Amino acid sequence: MDDFYREIIIDRYQNPHYRGELDPHDISFEDSNPLCGDELRIDLRVNGDENIIDARFSGKGCAISQASADLLLEYIQGKTLEEVKNLTKENVLELLGIELGPVRLKCALLSLKVLKAGAYGMDEASDDLVD
Ligand code: FES
Repeated sequence: MDDFYREIIIDRYQNPHYRGELDPHDISFEDSNPLCGDELRIDLRVNGDENIIDARFSGKGCAISQASADLLLEYIQGKTLEEVKNLTKENVLELLGIELGPVRLKCALLSLKVLKAGAYGMDEASDDLVD
């Protein structure tokens, strides 16, 4: 793993910028990583134009999942729900800057799955959201 990105991941895991809950919120969704059972919730506030004006995540998970959630929520500040729906796994991997095997990939993509399911207003998240 590249040292520079390893440092970013550890730093975001230990000192997250977007950890917490939003009350009130406009959108909230949570799901778990089926491989480990770790749960992640994301709350969003959006304005009348559907721009994201605040976002927070809560739950527990490994460094990769937590850092990925933190970096992703920073990345979507000011974006529209439509833009969020179009995010891809490549966007998240670019933010993390590392190559991941299949197990770690599930950790990294949990936040994207939760975020997109929330943006779509789904009742249940699907892996298709992050393929
Ligand atoms: Fe559970 Fe990574 S080990 S989210």
